[in-house]
Amino acid sequence: MIGIHLNHELDCSERRRLVFNGDLLLYSRNAATAALADHAISLASEAFAPMDPQFAQEELSVAAFIERAGPLKSRFTNDLRTKELVRDVLVAFGCDLDETYFDVPRLRLVPHGDYLSSGVSYAYKAHRDIWYASPTAQVNWWLPAFAVTTERAMSFFPEYWSKAVPNSSSEFDYDEWCRVGRQLATSQVDKDTRKHPLPADPISTESELRIASTKGDVIMFSAAHLHATAANRSGRTRFSIDFRTLNRSDIEQGRGAPNVDSRPSGSTIGDFIRARDFAPIQIPSAWQQP
Ligand SMILES: [Fe+2]
Repeated sequence: MIGIHLNHELDCSERRRLVFNGDLLLYSRNAATAALADHAISLASEAFAPMDPQFAQEELSVAAFIERAGPLKSRFTNDLRTKELVRDVLVAFGCDLDETYFDVPRLRLVPHGDYLSSGVSYAYKAHRDIWYASPTAQVNWWLPAFAVTTERAMSFFPEYWSKAVPNSSSEFDYDEWCRVGRQLATSQVDKDTRKHPLPADPISTESELRIASTKGDVIMFSAAHLHATAANRSGRTRFSIDFRTLNRSDIEQGRGAPNVDSRPSGSTIGDFIRARDFAPIQIPSAWQQP
């Protein structure tokens, strides 16, 4: 059974306990999440000016769209302001800034129709983030910039929380991904040739869950949840923000979600920065997870 908790005021450790149990935590926007979403909207509006970012794909060739989307995504990720706004979100949620680490925030653009689903707008097939070498202690934070509908949302497949999915994560090597995969993103137009970990068999959509939320509403979920980019049939490009957090004590004490089927090489843990001062994470050998 997967629980969905709406707007519960929980302390950080209680939230993580629920997330590691497979529950989804939903929070309506607050001032800090709205500010982060507004920041994304403002950068997107600038990048696609004078067009409305949600409809710009109607007026742009795929190549011209990528020319704007690529730098927009990099700017959002690397902008100091974005990191400060993520930190404000963590403060609003009562996270301990010295114990909490986050990785680079990302802006995702999912065009509608069959326009582009690779490279800068890769439509993630069903996956668990831990297939991509994320730690099981990772908490994912996902929020729309512009409101989403079920036709332009993210899909969860809760029935697979405790059910193994045959997959190719054992062929995923995070170090190689960093060397090769990311650099290729803007050159992947017709199809994505990067070595994503994928399910070996079709995924049952019987339990598929899509949450239609509005600007700045947060979905918090475990890196071990099977999820995907839903095909966007809504007539607008989806803009969403996501980032991931780790708590030092979870890593040190081996807490996290169960791992039912993930066997990648390497770990993303070195990408995390401390929420207080954005200092890179220091990884004592005791932190290395099996
Ligand atoms: Fe993911």
